[in-house]
Amino acid sequence: MTRETWATRTGFILAAAGSAVGLGNIWRFPWMTAQNGGSAFLAVYLLVVFGVGVPGLLGEFVIGRRARRNPMGALRDLSGSRRWAAVGAVSAVTGVALLSFYSVVGGWILRYLLVSMTGPLTGGAAYLSTPGAYFETISFGFEAAAFHLLFLAITGGIVLGGVRRGIELGTKVMVPAVLVLLVGMAAWVVTQPGAGAGYQFFLGFDLTTLRENFFSILGPAAGQALFTLSVGAGTMVTYASYLGEDRSLPFDGSVIALLNTGVGVLAGLVVFPLLFSQGVDPGTGGPGALFVGIAGAFAALPGGGLLAIVFFGVVTLAALSSSISMLEIPVAVLVDEGGWSRRAAVGVLLALVAVTGTVTALRPALFDFVAGTLVDLLLTGGLLAFLLFAGWVLGRDAVAEYVSGAGPVARQLATPWLFAVGIVIPVFLVFTLLTTAGIDARVGFWPTVGVAVAAVAVVLVGLRRQATV
Ligand code: PFF
Repeated sequence: MTRETWATRTGFILAAAGSAVGLGNIWRFPWMTAQNGGSAFLAVYLLVVFGVGVPGLLGEFVIGRRARRNPMGALRDLSGSRRWAAVGAVSAVTGVALLSFYSVVGGWILRYLLVSMTGPLTGGAAYLSTPGAYFETISFGFEAAAFHLLFLAITGGIVLGGVRRGIELGTKVMVPAVLVLLVGMAAWVVTQPGAGAGYQFFLGFDLTTLRENFFSILGPAAGQALFTLSVGAGTMVTYASYLGEDRSLPFDGSVIALLNTGVGVLAGLVVFPLLFSQGVDPGTGGPGALFVGIAGAFAALPGGGLLAIVFFGVVTLAALSSSISMLEIPVAVLVDEGGWSRRAAVGVLLALVAVTGTVTALRPALFDFVAGTLVDLLLTGGLLAFLLFAGWVLGRDAVAEYVSGAGPVARQLATPWLFAVGIVIPVFLVFTLLTTAGIDARVGFWPTVGVAVAAVAVVLVGLRRQATV
């Protein structure tokens, strides 16, 4: 059977941008920004997105398009090593882990959407009058598990349609809709009383906070940058594997990163002014801040019920265009490697995530662990593996793939890019892993950098040795 491909030139960009734009931008980004110093976080995050995320994205694209296979098959075919196949197989696990918490949040969103639509009929919804208490009661438990199943089923339905009729068609509708609606909302929010404090918090660049907290901001900012661009999981390897040679990977990667960052900033321009106009402190609200604050804001606003439908509708679309990309990773592994039909692969994976997601929906502590630490570790570790692979196993072939279809500016950047993905970014990623584990607080900054450099050097010597035997 011939492998599926994207039908149109924009199909791939929209699908990959749809994967990137999601709850990460609208729900996790404002939450993380608020928890880590507001505009100072934004500055570090932007640096990491463009300095690490975009080259990392290109690393995944190069591997996927070169191999035309899922992450597991790609690493095996390009290296001829079973060990690399095992490393690639971790992507399937990451896809399942991501979906296990993401579809729980997707379930919350669906519930808010449904309640916003039926609220006026039932005489006003509890979520508007007592937003904090409402979120408490619905966020975890059997009902949360049921809404998670609903979100998961919709995700599965789209992925079942395949690359062209499912993912491509879906994202072609979803991504433009999200953009248009968010721009509209951002323009409207300007007119709200008290919005100014939100803009100040979000955009008022403050060097002192940045200088004093740089290292504590770095870990969360890096994790958020990888999460928001969907790198490290193997989604971008998988999506690029359905791509032809005629595309410029650096160009497509830049467009995707710009779209994603634009949506992130737009979401901030909607969410923060709304929260501040409600007197909600986004920093203390945890993962519920968005829900509580936004629902409170809608309750206080004339016509808020309608806006709530628009807002939660946008977020649902953005969440689905990302969740399908998570499911597609293990689906591609089973289809390519196991010779499964798409239908069987989707069916078995839905059954699996139905169980893992239900457990997550019942246990808040597990949810926090999966959505935070586990995902940060899997994405950072995953990206590290992909980039070492691109830099040292593919090497010159990676450059050849990078420049294929690329314009003159991107060609100029090919060698610096290889240096970045082979050495600089791996050291940075190991460093962030160490700071996440709290090692810098114990041994100090420079010793941590030293450990990171040494760790990467040891791995590189190992890779060289493997290459020469
Ligand atoms: N980038 C998505 C978001 O911001 O919501 C989340 C995501 C999707 C992460 C796919 C990782 C992934 F592989």
